[in-house]
Amino acid sequence: MRRDPLIALRPWEAPEVTSWGRLPMSSVDRRDGALSLDGTWHFQLVPAPGASSGEWTRIEVPGAWTMQDLGDLPQYTNFQMPWAEFPPASPAANPTGVYERSVDIPADWAGRRIVLQVGAAESVLLVHVNGTPVGISKDSHLAAEFDLSDVVRPGDPATVRLTVVKWSDASHIEDQDQWWHAGITRSVLLYATDPLHLADVTVRARQDGRLRVDCQVRDAAGALPEGWYVTGALGGQLLVQDAEFDRVNAEDMRVSDFLGEARLSAAVREVRPWTAETPELYDLTVRLHRADGSVADTSHHRVGFRDVEVRGTNLLVNGERIFIRGINRHDFHPLTGRTVSADDMRADLVLLKRFGFNAIRTAHYPNDPTLLDLADDLGFYVVDEANIESHDHAHEIADDPRYLGAFVDRVSRMVLRDKNHPSVIIWSLGNESDYGANHDAAAGWVRRHDPTRPLQYEGAAKLDWADLSVASDIACPMYAPIEDCVAHALSAEQTKPLIQCEYSHAMGNSNGTLADHWAAIESIPGLQGGFIWEFWDHGILQRVNDGRPAGRAGAGLYGKGVAAPGHRWAYGGDFGDSPNDGVFCADGLVFPDRTPKPAMYEHREIAAPLRLRYRQGVLLVDNRQHFRSLDWLSAEWCLVHADGSTRTAPAALPDVPPGCSEAIPMPFPAPEGEAWLTLRVTTADDEPWAPRGTEVCLPQVCLSMGRSTELSTGIAPAPSHEPVSGTSVEVDGDGLLVHPMLASPPVLSLWRAPTDNDEVGGMAARWRDWGLDALVRKVLGLDREGAQVTVRAEYATGAGIVRHEQVITPVAGGLRIEESAQLPEALDDVARVGTVFETVGGLDVLDWYGQGPWESYPDRSAGAPVGHHSLDVDDLFTPYLRPQESGGRHGVRRFTLSAPDATGLAVDLAAPSQVSVTRYRAEDLAAAAHHDELVPRPGCVVHLDAAHRGLGTASCGPDTSPQYLVAAGTHRWSWTLRVL
Ligand code: GAL
Ligand code: MG
Repeated sequence: MRRDPLIALRPWEAPEVTSWGRLPMSSVDRRDGALSLDGTWHFQLVPAPGASSGEWTRIEVPGAWTMQDLGDLPQYTNFQMPWAEFPPASPAANPTGVYERSVDIPADWAGRRIVLQVGAAESVLLVHVNGTPVGISKDSHLAAEFDLSDVVRPGDPATVRLTVVKWSDASHIEDQDQWWHAGITRSVLLYATDPLHLADVTVRARQDGRLRVDCQVRDAAGALPEGWYVTGALGGQLLVQDAEFDRVNAEDMRVSDFLGEARLSAAVREVRPWTAETPELYDLTVRLHRADGSVADTSHHRVGFRDVEVRGTNLLVNGERIFIRGINRHDFHPLTGRTVSADDMRADLVLLKRFGFNAIRTAHYPNDPTLLDLADDLGFYVVDEANIESHDHAHEIADDPRYLGAFVDRVSRMVLRDKNHPSVIIWSLGNESDYGANHDAAAGWVRRHDPTRPLQYEGAAKLDWADLSVASDIACPMYAPIEDCVAHALSAEQTKPLIQCEYSHAMGNSNGTLADHWAAIESIPGLQGGFIWEFWDHGILQRVNDGRPAGRAGAGLYGKGVAAPGHRWAYGGDFGDSPNDGVFCADGLVFPDRTPKPAMYEHREIAAPLRLRYRQGVLLVDNRQHFRSLDWLSAEWCLVHADGSTRTAPAALPDVPPGCSEAIPMPFPAPEGEAWLTLRVTTADDEPWAPRGTEVCLPQVCLSMGRSTELSTGIAPAPSHEPVSGTSVEVDGDGLLVHPMLASPPVLSLWRAPTDNDEVGGMAARWRDWGLDALVRKVLGLDREGAQVTVRAEYATGAGIVRHEQVITPVAGGLRIEESAQLPEALDDVARVGTVFETVGGLDVLDWYGQGPWESYPDRSAGAPVGHHSLDVDDLFTPYLRPQESGGRHGVRRFTLSAPDATGLAVDLAAPSQVSVTRYRAEDLAAAAHHDELVPRPGCVVHLDAAHRGLGTASCGPDTSPQYLVAAGTHRWSWTLRVL
């Protein structure tokens, strides 16, 4: 067989080779009128480039082969490379996929320029058409185009062969924290243009209506014939060419192709500017005309008129200092890995809009172009990030001249593709690749080509947030503690806006202190927000029996965050992948099926467009938006009393300008006792991202707390009709309460099933060392005084003895249990101090008065209003991928747990407490690696916590703040137990 020159070149181990035969990147979108080559292709997977198995099978395009059960499975590593070779080398065992199909080239494409577009291929693409080598491309997240005019014949079939090499020099700069996949992950197209075509269009649209459109036309073999011209149409407004075409390449006979430029300009009167809150878009059509006026080429653009600028320590959009309520988003899908449909992308963005996000960082590579169309349309600010992460070998690569071309290539091609999107307000040079000359080279290119947008790169700004000489116009650290951000902003050293590129790591049960971050951001100039890490839990739907990815056949086999029986959400190691980084890829605010985790509601409230305040008897409405009035919102008042009564009334929202506040009349007469006023805010009309009536936020104020004694006795004491079982104190020989509704007695609990934050942050190990996960109780004494029983016990821990006392007293209709626990000095950071018991089976519904309905914790409770809530016990539990502490509710004053026949138990707490009711003991959760391994217990496991540790974000970033820690010393709490 003839030696294949593309293979002979060994481009997978040549970082200098970024492409060969590839057309320049362009902003001209050719998806309209193109021939889709998506669908089923012939496929063979071979062990190394150049090998042939001779055995063909089938594959879906777009589609990574790692998700289609073709013999090479996904592997997850965070930053360690999956193999040992140093850059630029790659392993000899190098799975290579050969995709092949035949395509009929339309006969009416005769004389046209015929172009193949491969949306994305991971990591090296080699293209052959009709056996002829056509080109090479790298960068797994940008399209590659090749001119096929000389290798295909219109009217004849052509064979397209796309060879994709999995591992390469490029893998070293695509070392992002995500699953490793391989194959063609975005659509493949074929299209035709006139040989003289629109090669690129650059749109600059200013907030004041000034519009400038720079058009490039190119002909690979010719020159501009006499009389050709460009026009533009913006809505009804015609844009005419400013001047003659400028020939860009010199009038030099050695230059074979023609490259010309022409400009269109206009001033649009009464323009409606684009912002993420008001995503006003105008349709622009650019046409290239022949001398007779006929159209040779057309390009469509959606134009948003807006300005973006960094001025001092502020990032301004249309002159306004905005807040970045951002999220990091990967292209991810649990069935297809990296291939994401337009519908899926839309669903992602719609959900983000509904939860108050206004910004996306395309972590860590340019996303499918459709995402930016949607961001323009729905309204998001985008940090568009180049596909460069050399994490494991960052230091070596940042200054390695062999990679210089790759850095500039990746950054410049992203900018060329995406420069016309109003949503893109900042360019990012990539992620976690140290900082070197290669970055400065890429930054230089961007600053020259697009001076209209700021540039950021965390690696450049990391050592000195204020250094103006580095390649970052923004101080964009990751996981910086709140105190450090505040100190910087107050230091007088600050020179740039501080917007964290990653913060509040959403792994497992997390995002503690989010509200504290925002309290600082909103009150301190210079702080402007950040991007939560991250949107998705990257769990891949896996069949449990054979360990294979379910692939597209798994459609619908999940819901409410959970995989259907026989399936699970796989994380690192579950495909036998080694090395792997386990569950660290499950760190998103949504489950792999896009079900929001409770932390999403926390964000929704923090980001709410409208806020309520109650100060000295005056009720205030704040419009928290930057550009919009409140007229798109409807609202209803709801007054909740501790006694269980609720009143509602329609609310008329005042016309408060953005950023302003207004006092409004109290909707109800001044209430007595504890009372909470909530505004249920919904969309007044259909929004592109939410039908009319969609809940937007639930701001709440406390009107009065009442007297705490009202709480301690329980709000509605049950009528006492003695003798009722459970109203006299019965204890066993160990002093443990015997009660008809309890399957196991109330005992002290100091431990929770470690969250991911507890594990990574080292707390879990300390708790285990102390023996808190398996406390052994020793009764010290049991005293009876009348009907009252006092039981004293102690628990030996590795950090000293914990003393615990329970005083159990019959009260009207039930029992009062007063408890105290004395934690020795050394036991200074425990998960909880409280009571745990288990109920008899059949109690399936929890009704409670406290914060809810969503799961909440001491440092994540801003999104859960106080009210009367009711949920099935099974729905209280959040199915975090790796089971851990889950299902807590903060600020609970009382609850009932009941069976369908209304029997059950009631608990009143003397002080608002952290409560959880689930089907699992902490040790059940701690012992399971995946949700599907959990076996529900017949009864409920109930925790009543006098103190519960905050969640923090220690799995990557700061732990919770000191005020949310559980201190040593004496804790007291008291509750009553009644039978319903
Ligand atoms: C950051 C990194 C992300 C991700 C995250 C932890 O350091 O940029 O890609 O690894 O940490 O989940
Ligand atoms: Mg990384």
